[in-house]
Amino acid sequence: MLEVNGINAYYGRAHILHDVSLGVGGGEVVALLGRNGSGKTTTLKTIMQIVPPETGSVHFDGEAITSLATYKVCRKGIGYVPEDRRIFSNLSVAKNLEAGRLPARAGLAEWTEDKLFKLFPNLRERRGNLGHQLSGGEQQMLSIARTLMGNPKLLLLDEPSEGIAPVIVEQMVRTIAELKTQGLSILLSEQNLHFARLVADRAYILETGSIKFAGTLQELESRPEVRDAFLAV
Ligand SMILES: Nc1ncnc2c1ncn2[C@@H]1O[C@H](COP(=O)(O)OP(=O)(O)O)[C@@H](O)[C@H]1O
Ligand SMILES: [Mg+2]
Repeated sequence: MLEVNGINAYYGRAHILHDVSLGVGGGEVVALLGRNGSGKTTTLKTIMQIVPPETGSVHFDGEAITSLATYKVCRKGIGYVPEDRRIFSNLSVAKNLEAGRLPARAGLAEWTEDKLFKLFPNLRERRGNLGHQLSGGEQQMLSIARTLMGNPKLLLLDEPSEGIAPVIVEQMVRTIAELKTQGLSILLSEQNLHFARLVADRAYILETGSIKFAGTLQELESRPEVRDAFLAV
């Protein structure tokens, strides 16, 4: 479904991503692991063409999206939840959700406010509250819910478990499992190996902008030296 092939990306003259290749299949949950500053966010931004890669390609459903504008990448069916969440702090939960709406996709059930409130019950109680009145965990849920209103086929989540309370992290694990059973593909960046283990089928590890490991979470489990070299535990 998603194929990233030999991406090189720069900020100015700083070479950040080095020949990064990765893939996400239909209905798969894939974790992009790595320490702070390893290039996880930049990788997600190159997929969205927020940071267009200098060389290499990104294909989605067999189609090259490497030269598209970001809003067109969204319309192709990739939903992006940035690490800073970007919810509208002066709009209500309901209005935030409305702002994320994109047309339904052929062959896929359309997301509605009611379906999203079933997935995120806390948000239903907060329907009339403004974005800035929500807790960090609720803001994270709203950011994901708003992106789902765009009816994506692939969801990119940048550190979904970061800075939220443990009880909300548990909820996030269940939410991701539920989205997976509904057939959504997910690529999530994480520093938290424990969280990745609970949600992901496969993982990649990034270190200084290069992929150092690709495999299942079980394989990673059986190679503690890889974990110790590239992840903070
Ligand atoms: N806007 C930017 N301008 C210049 N350098 C940046 C910018 N954003 C990130 N970087 C650098 O790029 C590298 C990768 O950052 P990032 O992709 O944010 O890593 P991660 O998400 O894994 O923490 C880091 O060295 C970071 O300092
Ligand atoms: Mg990041």
